[in-house]
Amino acid sequence: MIDVTFVSTNRGKYREIREVLLPYGVRVHWKRRTLPEPQADDLEEVMNAKLDAVRDIPGYVLVEDSGLFIPALRDFPGVYSAHFLRIWKFTPIFRLLKGRRRSASFRTVAGLQNGPRRWAFRGEVHGKIAPRAAGRGGFGYDPIFIPDGWDKTFAEGTPDEKNAISHRARAVRRVGEQLAGRGSRLESSNSVVRRKGRRA
Ligand code: IMP
Repeated sequence: MIDVTFVSTNRGKYREIREVLLPYGVRVHWKRRTLPEPQADDLEEVMNAKLDAVRDIPGYVLVEDSGLFIPALRDFPGVYSAHFLRIWKFTPIFRLLKGRRRSASFRTVAGLQNGPRRWAFRGEVHGKIAPRAAGRGGFGYDPIFIPDGWDKTFAEGTPDEKNAISHRARAVRRVGEQLAGRGSRLESSNSVVRRKGRRA
């Protein structure tokens, strides 16, 4: 088994990541710690700030940053997803989307660090904003997001159904593939980040 410490305050993310990495022989240990969320233009910048804040943790350390991007709202709430949800919840999104296209995507950038080495992995899922919140599963924006090919929200699906297609699972499966291959197959974060858009 390979041991990885996942740092986050979000138990839902931990549960998802633990299940995704298990088949790769990766055991996830959850370290609950509040990490910096600087105002930044993209998820990578936030992810890198999070990795900077966990340099004291030995071995493989995993963090991630995610957001909900709505093209009709110029990709809002995007990198501000956490702040927005904390303050406003879903109602303003429904109001702003009246008469507009409801397509949306979730994106994750997962960051892996071991001493001086650092790697980034992306994942994305497309879908649309539901007409109203539905479902009790998941967390965050799950009750208002209907992934493509579904007729229900992420919050109405099971954890396994969400993990089959989610932005986070897609990014984290790449973490698992790389860790299972170990060492030589690991890519540097720069090479991954440069290939923006092709990693989802
Ligand atoms: P962060 O990565 O913790 O900054 O997440 C940004 C915001 O998006 C938070 O409000 C999260 O609850 C929400 N979020 C992140 N991942 C998901 C997800 O898989 N489903 C629904 N909401 C999410």
